[in-house]
Amino acid sequence: KIIRVQSPNGMKKISATKKETAAAFLNKVGKEFGFTSNGFSIYLNRNKTNEIQSQNKTLSLLKIKHGDMLFLYPSGSPGPSGETMDVAMPHSSSSVPQIQEDDIDQYLAKQEGKIYRNKDPQLHLDPPVKHMSFHAYIRKLTGGADKGKFVALENISCKIKSGCEGHPPWPEGICTKCQPSAITLNRQKYRHIDNIMFENHTIADRFLDFWRKTGSQRMGYLYGRYIEHKDIPLAIRAEVAAIYEPPQIATQNSLELVDDPKAAAVEEIAAKLGLRKVGWIFTDLLSEDTRIGTVKYTRNKDSYFLSAEECITAGHFQNLHSNPCRLSPDGHFGSKFITVVATGGPDNQVHFEGYQVSNQCMALVRDECLLPCRDAPELGYAKESSTEQYVPDVFYKDKDKFGNDITYLARPLPVEYLIIDITTTFPKDPQYTFSSTHRFPIENRDVLGETQDFHSLASYLSQCPSTVFLDIVSDFHLLLFLVTNEVMPLKESIGLLLDAVKMKDEELAQTWKNSEQWATIEQLCSKYLREPKTRTSPLTPGSTIKCHYHHRPVPWSTAPWVGAGPLQCPPPPCGPAYTAPS
Ligand SMILES: *[C@@H]1O[C@H](CO)[C@@H](O)[C@H](O)[C@H]1NC(C)=O
Ligand SMILES: *[C@@H]1O[C@H](CO)[C@@H](O)[C@H](O)[C@H]1NC(C)=O
Ligand SMILES: *[C@@H]1O[C@H](CO)[C@@H](O)[C@H](O)[C@H]1NC(C)=O
Ligand SMILES: *[C@@H]1O[C@H](CO)[C@@H](O)[C@H](O)[C@H]1NC(C)=O
Repeated sequence: KIIRVQSPNGMKKISATKKETAAAFLNKVGKEFGFTSNGFSIYLNRNKTNEIQSQNKTLSLLKIKHGDMLFLYPSGSPGPSGETMDVAMPHSSSSVPQIQEDDIDQYLAKQEGKIYRNKDPQLHLDPPVKHMSFHAYIRKLTGGADKGKFVALENISCKIKSGCEGHPPWPEGICTKCQPSAITLNRQKYRHIDNIMFENHTIADRFLDFWRKTGSQRMGYLYGRYIEHKDIPLAIRAEVAAIYEPPQIATQNSLELVDDPKAAAVEEIAAKLGLRKVGWIFTDLLSEDTRIGTVKYTRNKDSYFLSAEECITAGHFQNLHSNPCRLSPDGHFGSKFITVVATGGPDNQVHFEGYQVSNQCMALVRDECLLPCRDAPELGYAKESSTEQYVPDVFYKDKDKFGNDITYLARPLPVEYLIIDITTTFPKDPQYTFSSTHRFPIENRDVLGETQDFHSLASYLSQCPSTVFLDIVSDFHLLLFLVTNEVMPLKESIGLLLDAVKMKDEELAQTWKNSEQWATIEQLCSKYLREPKTRTSPLTPGSTIKCHYHHRPVPWSTAPWVGAGPLQCPPPPCGPAYTAPS
């Protein structure tokens, strides 16, 4: 059996047998947490009551069961100060805030960086990698003449430095010390994420179903993990295990997010399942022939891959999920947050295209210097300075028809200077994090008549053969429903079940199944089955800002800055004179 031990520095799971003595168990816990035998005490209760003594009694005699939570306190610690236990941090050695880099970054920083390429002589050599991986790039920066030297990654800012005393503030004054430098846009040399992989087609397919059934576009957040991608040295793959579809209002050519009361709960559940938000996905699909299910090929090199507005949205999301990095002066650099577009490919089938925007784009978006063009989705526009805001000059370089490098002012700006493409793949053999083979309805699809309620739960449970409980409850959307439903939300009490799903532990799942909560849920299901189903009210817009630009052709439109306060979207005057350099 598994016993969970909560300490001020986090929880650990300790396996034990029924016949194990308390003394042997305490010994094991001590080793696991790195304490000497009398350096700590363990209690049945969080409030330091019912201490477990080191003695010759078995765990079953002490009534410690599979899945129980025990509480460990180091000796001489000030004891339980209420709720602070869960958030208590290990002491940091200095007053400088420690940058906690992501696990994958800590791992890759220790790797050699060899290529694990297939040595099969039949294989063609892969084409040279267009972008370096982020960690290879860092190695290159630190590994030169002054090897091991601390490099500080550039923190791009488009804002006037505050605190300049010598002159009145903008717009009355500005000086060389506080003025942000001009920006010349470069194609970024490295990629933060080198590959995107969906665990299997079902995940993507169920997401596309919404468009198939309604013709409306759809947006979702990708939940998964960042792992090593061995095809490229020191590369990172974003692996997608589930798609959460937040409340949204969509049409065939627009998409708007509304406030999501469940956003925090989703993050928390995902974290407990060992997953995190790795990116977002949206559809841009237009039927070509509904009988055979083909779609139009609209995004290509003659139109655009990502519109300026989508780049700005991606930049906004990347800023919200910036990447902890100890080499940066403010502890953050770039982002691992990815963007996936589901759109028609040259074969008129649905393709999944992955992107990120550059760090330069992130800075322009963060400091509100970039706008989409009114009538050309493939063009962005660097704002002009106003009395409210100083905007540095933004340039990009391209070759003219004689092959000479020419510097252009980014008004307008082809968005290809901001985009990094990422290959998006599916594994040959489907993988999965959630083992349920049945389909519990996806959240926020009431417009389709697919609701998450106790009716749908009852019919879901009736489809499932009741042999392996873990396989019934191992479904992301079902777990979200169990936690967030309004009739009987399972808040803290679901922790054990989430652990069971995360560790794929049927025994632990069975323990939870015997709980009062599950009994109540089963009762509710049978009660709701006897009552006629009532339709839930349709989605109503929340307190969001609409920010529609009138593109021609309108790709889609969204208000990603939900909750960020009023944002004005004056359509910038994009010069009619622009012609793409040939
Ligand atoms: C400690 O917690 C247990 C279980 O939560 C409770 O039964 C007991 O009354 C508490 N004791 C004190 C002294 O607070
Ligand atoms: C522990 O208990 C068992 C059986 O109850 C006994 O055989 C054994 O000698 C005891 N050990 C110690 C160290 O007391
Ligand atoms: C980096 O840039 C951001 C945005 O301009 C700013 O808030 C932050 O203080 C900067 N950090 C450093 C160390 O310059
Ligand atoms: C795909 O993955 C999802 C999520 O892990 C899982 O629910 C589903 O059963 C998987 N499908 C296949 C065919 O493996």
